[in-house]
Amino acid sequence: MEIKNLMVTGGCGFIGSNFIQYLLGQGDFTGRIINVDKLTYAGNPDNLEGIEKDYPGRYLFERADICNLERMEEIFSRYGINAVCHFAAESHVDRSIKDPGAFIYTNIVGTFNLLEAARSHAGDFILFHHISTDEVYGSLGKEGLFKETTPYQPTSPYSAAKASSDHLVRAYNKTYGLPVTVSNCSNNYGPYQFPEKLIPLITLNAKEGEKLPVYGDGRNVRDWLYVEDHCDAIWTIMKSGRRGETYNIGGNMEMENIVIVEMICDILDEITGLGSNGPRRNLITFVTDRPGHDRRYAIDFSKLQNELNWSPKESFESGIRKTLSWYLENSEWVGRVKNNEYRSWISEQYTL
Ligand code: NAD
Ligand code: TYD
Repeated sequence: MEIKNLMVTGGCGFIGSNFIQYLLGQGDFTGRIINVDKLTYAGNPDNLEGIEKDYPGRYLFERADICNLERMEEIFSRYGINAVCHFAAESHVDRSIKDPGAFIYTNIVGTFNLLEAARSHAGDFILFHHISTDEVYGSLGKEGLFKETTPYQPTSPYSAAKASSDHLVRAYNKTYGLPVTVSNCSNNYGPYQFPEKLIPLITLNAKEGEKLPVYGDGRNVRDWLYVEDHCDAIWTIMKSGRRGETYNIGGNMEMENIVIVEMICDILDEITGLGSNGPRRNLITFVTDRPGHDRRYAIDFSKLQNELNWSPKESFESGIRKTLSWYLENSEWVGRVKNNEYRSWISEQYTL
């Protein structure tokens, strides 16, 4: 059976919007996408501007909260949803530390609702793909990599809520036979990322000559993946991954935060010339560390590589240059986000 009516949740966020653009551009997907997004602060319809015109009849949008089970059931029935790719989540660790409530509702209860809706349409339903994070595995020491068999040890309310949702998805597979796949990915970067995450925040602050906050000693390590490579991995798993299985996705690109921040400063100096304070590295400011800050993440994605022949295409050097150019060239998008203009437009356009 093929995917005819694919519900993409959180499709106006960073990875979801890149995925929708990516998937509609693929020759081997001919179905419709129904994007279900609550449009929280992180959901921005600007990310998909012009998509209805570019792909007539193939993209539909529903502003809805995945915590509302009745709405999810109704959307499943109305559009004949036969597959789900589930991105919608509260996604920022610092926010989860300050205010964990929304993370519990959206990431856990929201996922449960979607699983229930899928279960009640079991006859036609062919795939629930759940997008998750490597943060569920906790923190690594100097050595070692996260494998799919690494025990879960989440440390922040964000990662604990994502871990909980992963368990629910697998439980629905084992208990009810729901066809599911799960992917746990490392840190993404690229166009349309909300400027609260490290790379866009540092890029925009450095461009404006503002301070560049680096938590703790700056030596925490993340494994970075260009967002288009993530989209490609997700679609590969959706098409060919074994049902009931989990696949780790990573970039083979371990970097210390401070090295990335310095790299962004140097590339911006090179492209735009020095700022008024001289080299942008002068703006780097070490600040109080994040509580419970995981030291190191690194992914073993050999299962995905060996079984499904996937590997990342973009190098960090080329991916970061593309990303910085995107933020420099899209000052209108940046301005609307920074000045909160997209929020007033959303409340005029859509009710929840
Ligand atoms: P994001 O914060 O940019 O986007 C989240 C989207 O979900 C937004 O459009 C928001 O409006 C929507 N949303 C939030 N609550 C909702 C609700 N209750 N109902 C409906 N929609 C809701 O997040 P992202 O960075 O694009 O991450 C997407 C997914 O990928 C998340 O599940 C995240 O855990 C996972 N992930 C992210 C990364 C990363 O580096 N960003 C890495 C691995 C996994
Ligand atoms: P972030 O982009 O928030 O992603 P995550 O917490 O999901 O890995 O942060 C990436 C790394 O950068 C993380 O080690 C925290 C650090 N960081 C800073 O040093 N300064 C910042 O202003 C931010 C937002 C993050």
